Amino acid sequence: MINLFSPYAIKGLELKNRVVMPPMCQYSVSDKDGIATDWHYTHYVSRAVGGTGLIIVEMTDIEPDGRITDYDLGLWSDEQIPALRRIVDASHSHGAKVGIQIGHAGRKAEDAEVPVAPSAIPFDSKSKTPRELTTPEVKEMVGKFRSAVARAVKAGFDTIEIHGAHGYLIHQFHSPLTNKRQDEYGQDLTLFGCEVIAAAKAEMPEDMPLILRISAQEYVDGGYGIEESIAFAQKYREAGVDIFHISAGGEGPIAAAGRPGTHAAYQVPLAKAIKDALDVPVIAVGRLDDPILANAVVGNEEAELVAVGRGMLRNPYWTLEAAAKLNKETQIPKQYAFGF
Ligand SMILES: Cc1cc2nc3c(=O)[nH]c(=O)nc-3n(C[C@H](O)[C@H](O)[C@H](O)COP(=O)(O)O)c2cc1C
Repeated sequence: MINLFSPYAIKGLELKNRVVMPPMCQYSVSDKDGIATDWHYTHYVSRAVGGTGLIIVEMTDIEPDGRITDYDLGLWSDEQIPALRRIVDASHSHGAKVGIQIGHAGRKAEDAEVPVAPSAIPFDSKSKTPRELTTPEVKEMVGKFRSAVARAVKAGFDTIEIHGAHGYLIHQFHSPLTNKRQDEYGQDLTLFGCEVIAAAKAEMPEDMPLILRISAQEYVDGGYGIEESIAFAQKYREAGVDIFHISAGGEGPIAAAGRPGTHAAYQVPLAKAIKDALDVPVIAVGRLDDPILANAVVGNEEAELVAVGRGMLRNPYWTLEAAAKLNKETQIPKQYAFGF
């Protein structure tokens, strides 16, 4: 029987268990230079000590104006590689595998003087109105994703997650609410995302899997739902995605018709729907921090992997405690054996 502590392998990525730390921005860069600090090192490496199978480093941006805030991580320069390499190497020494989420905030880049987006539509009445990217600029943006992925590979990451969720740039391209373009990137709403995926794959070793995070449902009135997201995920799958990480929302303030995540496991039905429709591995996320529930999601084959976000902010040793609670074997650091 498969459970939360069964190993998982896809292509060359071998995980000791099914527990994922999802990307969570720390807004903790000190000099607005996009370089990881000691905070990032301690934060990620302690989750590796805590037994996590796969750690996905927070949204890391492909250019300065792609950051949500000036305190986000970046990979637009080679100077940003060594501090990430240090985190990856130390996490490896504690048995974790490490991925990184590569993204661009588009119209949600709060500190950009003039944010860029597929179309000049602001996020809400308080946000800056973004400038519409020209067609050549969209093509350059694909190149920037490619260069950032190349740097991530150089830093030693085991997998790459492209951020296509939460109302950021790729999501803005594939949502009819935010993409009103007249060029080819408006005729085919998934063209930008597909080109980014192909560019990323071109820089990744053959046996390294690519993860794409998507919002499988928009929460605003008139937003897309699961039928539409299955259709666009199919295109992304054909472009080269190996695993989908299924989240939701982020495109605007939650509307009356929306369903924010107030209940445990609220996004699991979306993950299962994508998994079944595409016959593809998925990561489920969203209020899965009760180990019994997380274990059931894997055991009931609703998702291959389970991500625990806020639960791991509270407790870096979430995975070790989950193993104890579920009575599963896991390697406890010898220094901490008495604690268990
Ligand atoms: C502090 C914080 C920062 C986050 N930053 C990111 C991010 O960088 N990229 C992303 O895709 N999601 C981000 N998220 C969303 C989480 O990855 C996760 O999907 C969400 O917290 C739901 O999972 P949970 O209920 O286990 O916390 C963030 C969440 C939190 C709490």
